[in-house]
Amino acid sequence: MARGPLVAPLAESLVSPASVPPVSVPPVGVSPSNASPSSVSPTRPSAGSTPDLFADCAPAAPGAPLALAPGAFVLPRLALADAPALLDGMHGVLAQAPLRHWVTPGGLRMSVAMSNCGALGWVSDRTGYRYDARDPVTGRAWPQMPPALRELASRAAAAAGYADFRPDACLINRYEPGARLSLHQDRDERDLDQPIVSVSLGLPAMFVFGGARRSDPTRRVPLCHGDGVVWGGPSRLFHHGVLAVKAGEHELTGAVRFNLTFRVAG
Ligand code: SIN
Ligand code: FE2
Repeated sequence: MARGPLVAPLAESLVSPASVPPVSVPPVGVSPSNASPSSVSPTRPSAGSTPDLFADCAPAAPGAPLALAPGAFVLPRLALADAPALLDGMHGVLAQAPLRHWVTPGGLRMSVAMSNCGALGWVSDRTGYRYDARDPVTGRAWPQMPPALRELASRAAAAAGYADFRPDACLINRYEPGARLSLHQDRDERDLDQPIVSVSLGLPAMFVFGGARRSDPTRRVPLCHGDGVVWGGPSRLFHHGVLAVKAGEHELTGAVRFNLTFRVAG
């Protein structure tokens, strides 16, 4: 049985405003490696210039869920009103568990800086990816998940049709300009029946969402401050990534994008 809320088809919702250039909805099949991030700019257009893709971040109100794939939804501006409280909670966590750049099993330093809160945290080193109850940098348990974060995650999951989502892990990602996340699956969690909930804060980014196979066609989804994305059920293991974040300035986060991803990991 189909699970999920009443939704508008994503493509339709993204192409409709006449001011949005066609680049906002590239044809399915564009992958991050051949996409053209230089064709979008996060800065607001000045009067008289061609409005760019992220002029679309301007609507300051939550919108109806958009279907991205079976079981996957974008929740426009869902976290807008909560963003200051989410950022406060997040900074409290980061004061105890500072951001750091993990090294991949292949020995590469990740461009995204990460930390965690909750019972389990996602970590990476030369031995592999895993969830760990302790922060290997401080040797301590990860900070507790602030209630504002936990509640927002449950609300986002419910808005996408997933009731009773109780995350035990929140990964905090910080993207400085140029930072990116290549196409991957989230599959280190024990219970794959639970969805992934992601919340974007600060600078915009281009999210890439594919399919079960790495080679499946992908679509690009612009994510703005306050946007949620939830994927689970048939799309729980779908590949996804983030194109290099463009330089810009956001009134709440400055020159960076933060992303919170909530999982039931243990
Ligand atoms: C992730 O895939 O873990 C993060 C996605 C994002 O930053 O939007
Ligand atoms: Fe991911």
